[in-house]
Amino acid sequence: MSRSADELRPDSPIKDLADEAAAQLLQELAEIIAYHDARYHTADEQTEPEISDAEYDALIQLNRQVEAAFPGLMRPDSPSVRVGIVPAGNFAKITHALPMLSLGNAFDADDLSDFTARIRRFLSLPEDSPLEMTAEPKIDGLSLSLRYEKGKLIYAATRGDGTIGEDVTANIRTLNEVPDILAGEIPDVFEVRGEVYMRRSDFAALNSEQEKQGGKIFANPRNAAAGALRQKDAKITASRNLRFFAYAAGALSDPVSDTHKGFLDRLSEAGFSVNPLTALCRNETELLAHYQKIASLRPELDYDIDGVVYKINRHDWQERLGQVSRAPRWAIAHKFPAEQAETILRDIEIQVGRTGALTPVARLQPVLVGGVTVSNATLHNEDEIRRKDIRIGDSVILQRAGDVIPQIVRVRTEKRSEGAAVFIFPETCPICGHPATRPEGEAVRRCTGGFECEAQSREQLKHFVSRDAMDIDGLGSQLIDLFYDRGWIKTPADIFRLPEKRDEIAALERMAEKSTDNLCRAIEAVRTPPLEKLIFGLGIRQIGQATAKLLASRYQSLEALMQACQNAADTSHPDYAELTAIDQIGTSVTDDLVRFFTARQTAPMIADLLAHTTPVPPEAPSADSPVSGKTIVFTGTLEKRSRSEAKAQAEKLGAKVSGAVSARTDILVAGPGAGSKLKKAEELEIEILSEEEWLAFITGHNG
Ligand code: IVH
Repeated sequence: MSRSADELRPDSPIKDLADEAAAQLLQELAEIIAYHDARYHTADEQTEPEISDAEYDALIQLNRQVEAAFPGLMRPDSPSVRVGIVPAGNFAKITHALPMLSLGNAFDADDLSDFTARIRRFLSLPEDSPLEMTAEPKIDGLSLSLRYEKGKLIYAATRGDGTIGEDVTANIRTLNEVPDILAGEIPDVFEVRGEVYMRRSDFAALNSEQEKQGGKIFANPRNAAAGALRQKDAKITASRNLRFFAYAAGALSDPVSDTHKGFLDRLSEAGFSVNPLTALCRNETELLAHYQKIASLRPELDYDIDGVVYKINRHDWQERLGQVSRAPRWAIAHKFPAEQAETILRDIEIQVGRTGALTPVARLQPVLVGGVTVSNATLHNEDEIRRKDIRIGDSVILQRAGDVIPQIVRVRTEKRSEGAAVFIFPETCPICGHPATRPEGEAVRRCTGGFECEAQSREQLKHFVSRDAMDIDGLGSQLIDLFYDRGWIKTPADIFRLPEKRDEIAALERMAEKSTDNLCRAIEAVRTPPLEKLIFGLGIRQIGQATAKLLASRYQSLEALMQACQNAADTSHPDYAELTAIDQIGTSVTDDLVRFFTARQTAPMIADLLAHTTPVPPEAPSADSPVSGKTIVFTGTLEKRSRSEAKAQAEKLGAKVSGAVSARTDILVAGPGAGSKLKKAEELEIEILSEEEWLAFITGHNG
């Protein structure tokens, strides 16, 4: 990956290039520049970028010249507008005292009603009982956690993966809206969460200055804010005029207020900016009215927003509601409708994903939607193509919302030309040729090749090394492809054998000695991965990060998980009941787990992987609680808490909640109307508690 701008520059004037040659050159430049960006970004102290700043600038310059001569060929991943070109590397990692959550989405009034109904059900509140909520703009920036101790700023951390972020304290100290010392009575530990953003006016000024200087042009204020935040030199951050809105609490040593609104008022008193469009609402009508008001003000605001966040006002309710996967149950983001544009569908291609799903992808005439050039869109599946009657050559309406993959909303059939071609969906995998089948009742057609399908195993490897899984720095998708092509990696365990090939890797055209050593070091560094990351990395269908975490804390080892899933192939085995009863794991997820762990290739693959790694199980939650590690079954009617709240509460205290009574059950909590489970528990002489006794038993433990 060492070609310079001089080597790439064509002999004839750029404007005389044929379209194909220009497109080819842009593609090559995008790849080379991305490669150097990645080197620069992941650089540690011993690493220097492979090329000088001047050589890098020459590549950027050449890219700009080609784009200027062929504006229609500008790529969606063009280096001149690309997201996250991060000029500086080294930020220390910080583990958040409490995870930084994301938000569930609502798109209309029905979604909002579902949300409030869910909350009432969870809290066992009567329908139509009062439910005070706040409504505030959802700022389109970067979330940040600020930790104050005894009123002094100790650190500022980015969200990262929600658990571990990056230490950006030095840069954040330059922001006027982040006080170094807080005013008033503040608990000893006081964490404030909020959004760093750049004003639209500052963004416009920055881009016009960058253009004059021949610097990087940012796609939107959010990307510009990200760039400003990740500077090595805090003076540059200071010059970019970043802003901060505070909107939530992290860890607090003492409560500050009974309500969210009260907390925001305390934040203002302490010296933070709180968004002035925050309102306290008594019901859904008021929430929706405030949503409309914010939507109508949106064009005039000097900052980007992408929706309105609704939050339950009472903190005790927030606490009881807790979170599900990575989002709180007590808040939701009501998103603004997506932006639309019209373009031509040039072709449909089939991509084969990690789980074998054949996904049709629309290749489009590039078009600007909401400030970003889009040239691909997902078509989901074959039914979607048929339902929308999408044909190659059609004029289509495209929609893009936030970071979501663009979609085709509809076809402008009135513009359809005679040549528009119906797409025939393949029934064999276009990559490996195995049959692609579609089980009854499912929308997706899948390749049956498993690990034998090259596309699946490549995608699986990319997933395995990705940030939320094993997080192997510097091993991106291009390198995976390269190593795969050479036959060096096929299964996850092969990655751990790569360091044995150090010299062969270093000899590859695009690899330098230093980057090879960095790669080997990054691989060595993940030989003791958190168990949940390893489980997530296996890429089992329906097993996302949250479920992987549940499985890791329940089973504490990959061997135990595999054993349980193999036992569960027999649905009368207690392990089946235990799996299906874990919060958020039902029969369908259990079936996928069983399918994965009983597949012919799985056991040897796992054994090989465990020969190279020693996964670290998560800490068992609240080991000091009286129910930690115990298996609880709830039966009958619960009167004080809904079934889901009781279950969530028990799990928070480290208990396993099961749906069936067996010899492994420790406690049965029985409400009125309990039947066969109660009888079975009596036979097995299992401890039986009423709901009241249960609540008394666990009080004082976050109950
Ligand atoms: S509250 C536990 N309030 O939206 C609740 N988030 O899509 C945490 N965001 O990661 C979030 N404006 O970065 C909250 N007024 C607001 C927000 C807001 C923007 C961001 C935040 C979060 C993301 C979730």
